[in-house]
Amino acid sequence: MRRKIIAGNWKMNKTPSETVTLINELKPLVATEDADVVFCVPAISLTTAIEAAKGSNINIGAENMYFEENGAFTGEIAPNMLTDIGVKYVIIGHSERREYFAETDETVNKKVLKAFEHGITPIVCCGESLAQREQGVTIDFIRTQIKIAFVNVTAEQAKTAVIAYEPIWAIGTGKVATTEQAQEVCAAIRVCISEIYDEATAAAIRIQYGGSVSAASAAELFSQPDIDGGLVGGASLKPDFGKIVNYK
Ligand code: 13P
Repeated sequence: MRRKIIAGNWKMNKTPSETVTLINELKPLVATEDADVVFCVPAISLTTAIEAAKGSNINIGAENMYFEENGAFTGEIAPNMLTDIGVKYVIIGHSERREYFAETDETVNKKVLKAFEHGITPIVCCGESLAQREQGVTIDFIRTQIKIAFVNVTAEQAKTAVIAYEPIWAIGTGKVATTEQAQEVCAAIRVCISEIYDEATAAAIRIQYGGSVSAASAAELFSQPDIDGGLVGGASLKPDFGKIVNYK
């Protein structure tokens, strides 16, 4: 039985001091023993967030990371900077990073490999655009994203990975994918993983749905056989996140 994992992606929201306030507000609301809870916060707030979350069930994750160890990469964050302060998760290849910051399937793969090298769990994002869905190429497109993201990743590593399926047309639009659409793609991702690796790896890897998840939609989405939780944007900044975490 896979353990659910429910993560908030704060994106570019909240200052370090606002981070403390929000974590203190959400801490009692997201308390649960039934799921892993992760708050992915802006890099500048990571240390503060880790301090604020101490003693709670909240794990802190980063929203991005670079794929080199160190050096002349102005503005980037190295993997050992994250592990040094106790970061356990990192979002890799979010569609906003692909769209606005020129990330590609190849850089996603480099970052995924680097995260594993440093013992950080990557939350690997994939998702089709509205045009791709209308063209009927959703599954083909997602399979390509997944296959490239996992090049040279071992089965043992893949078993511990998290994949977030986030249809781009559902992000921040209030237009959540139907339960059937979300389950169909998450199931297809699991089949893809079983083809790259084996059944055991496919059964172990956790696949989230993301895109306008709300307190109203979480229960139905997260009870689908291939949906192991969610990656939540807007609603992760509100008390509603407590309802999403405790969706049952
Ligand atoms: P929303 O939940 O705001 O649609 O954002 C989803 C997302 O991009 C999470 O990574």
